Amino acid sequence: MKKNLCVIPGDGIGPEVIEQGLKVLDAVAERFNHSFDYCHADMGAVAIDKFGTPLPEATIEACIKADAIYFGAIGDPKYDNDPNAKVRPEQGLLALRKSLGLYGNIRPVTAYSSMLKHSPLREENIEGVDFVIYRELTGGIYFGEKGKSEDGLSAFDTCSYSVGEIERIAKLAFKAAQGRRKKLTLIDKANVLETSRLWRETVRRMSSDYPDVEVSFMFVDNAAMQMILYPKQFDVIVTSNMFGDIISDEASVIAGSMGLLPSASVGEKTSLFEPIHGSYPQAAGMDTANPIATILSGALLLESLGMQEEANVIRAAVAKTLDEGIGTHDLHPKIEYTCSQMGDLLASIVAEADLDVQSDKLEDSVSTII
Ligand code: IPM
Ligand code: MG
Repeated sequence: MKKNLCVIPGDGIGPEVIEQGLKVLDAVAERFNHSFDYCHADMGAVAIDKFGTPLPEATIEACIKADAIYFGAIGDPKYDNDPNAKVRPEQGLLALRKSLGLYGNIRPVTAYSSMLKHSPLREENIEGVDFVIYRELTGGIYFGEKGKSEDGLSAFDTCSYSVGEIERIAKLAFKAAQGRRKKLTLIDKANVLETSRLWRETVRRMSSDYPDVEVSFMFVDNAAMQMILYPKQFDVIVTSNMFGDIISDEASVIAGSMGLLPSASVGEKTSLFEPIHGSYPQAAGMDTANPIATILSGALLLESLGMQEEANVIRAAVAKTLDEGIGTHDLHPKIEYTCSQMGDLLASIVAEADLDVQSDKLEDSVSTII
């Protein structure tokens, strides 16, 4: 297959994790005879510094033309610590999501067996956890009317949802549940919020079209607790933009590190693939960041383009290195690798795509590095 990918490294550790992701995609191309053309574009603080805007028009155009978008991370502390900043890097990502109509953000959460012992959660509670969060991405409080009073003493953000916005993300989530364990949980705050009541009403009405899916409803405060106490109860979660943002960071504790969770944003135009973590500016340029979330986002990207086997090879390579106790420092590995060493190792395993043969190679490569 020949595909055009728009690559947006972004800020902080974004460029270095994306570099590893591209090594792995190149390895897939080599192994499976595909050809990936990359077009690089700017977004975030890096774009503000170059062009005065976090989302240049040229970036939107490049994204629309591409078959998929591969994105690193966004954010820079120089804006976080300035409440009066007129432009912020994050506005670029929000505007891109909106302009591409990326209303569905899909965040799979898997507990890797080799990571269980490093989790602050009890091993028996997280072993076998496998759920996916469907987060609404272009509505709610992120995009409602907002403002600050002239005297600066009050401010507001509005949360608003239409039935149509709820239906389209709920439809994706129902369909996903049908292909999995057939359980859908809507996380909301329907005991307080009018928008949450509309979510419940809409999801309940839609459930008659999916009789094989068992639907449950959970308040977000309870869900935050349940996710830590008994995460195995979840299969597919559907929720609004802000609740999804919060619970997906919480869910990363189950996987063992923020650096392991990929995501796909889908909607009306080109889909976008990015790790769920932020730009981790303290680590930028140090070659210590964990590139696995980005590499697994690459697997989701390939899957979306119909390359299932290729995606599976990437996932198997990741599982293999984790099983061998190899990883970046956040994973408390037996053998600590840098970000670029992880990229090289995973790319070499993927290029051969023969995981058994590779296990010797893996040991060779370990022994040359330690
Ligand atoms: C995420 C991030 C973004 C969000 C930020 C960077 C705007 O936290 O993708 O989860 O809040 O959506
Ligand atoms: Mg977030």
